[in-house]
Amino acid sequence: MYTIISGTNRNNSKSLMVSKLIEEIYKAKGEEVNLIDLRDLPPAIYTPEAYGEKPKEFQPFLDKVVNAKGLIVVAAEYNGSAPGALKYFIDMLPYPDAFENVAVSFVGIAAGQWAGIRAVEHMQQVFGYRDAYLHPKRVFLPNSYGLLTSDEQFKETPEYTRLETQADSFIQFCNQVLGE
Ligand SMILES: Cc1cc2nc3c(=O)[nH]c(=O)nc-3n(C[C@H](O)[C@H](O)[C@H](O)COP(=O)(O)O)c2cc1C
Repeated sequence: MYTIISGTNRNNSKSLMVSKLIEEIYKAKGEEVNLIDLRDLPPAIYTPEAYGEKPKEFQPFLDKVVNAKGLIVVAAEYNGSAPGALKYFIDMLPYPDAFENVAVSFVGIAAGQWAGIRAVEHMQQVFGYRDAYLHPKRVFLPNSYGLLTSDEQFKETPEYTRLETQADSFIQFCNQVLGE
């Protein structure tokens, strides 16, 4: 089972648009896939107490991460890094074992020309620290407001083809590293 994490809780986010297209790609390949939209996280996690006992409404989100074979993290560039909402979600997951036997693939997005490379590399550091298997084939989407105008227009671009190629490669990577 694969889980896509759309890495921001901003409304009208391009990360969510891309995450939904990635979900379609994995489904078309016959894979079971979930999508986590960080806007759906329960408000109760944003309390000091949540570092201890997790609210029960958080459990389905936690399960989608720890039971996944592969995570696809879509990381937008916010202030030269990944969105704080994504890091906070990670901080709410069980420490230290949330990403044991989990592989992670990364997609970077930014309004600017550096296409989220800083966001992805910061997240690679975090997931690598937590023992996840890092898929080396990353995809970067620059100029988000030009490139991601509509699904139809984006599907005609080489960047969309890269997402399809990345999915094939990630499925193979997960099977090799974690078994079929
Ligand atoms: C708080 C915030 C900080 C941002 N910082 C950057 C940045 O450092 N570099 C950049 O290229 N774009 C930056 N952006 C633009 C995002 O990269 C852009 O919105 C992009 O579409 C991906 O994020 P989204 O999923 O929110 O749409 C920022 C956007 C927000 C909301």
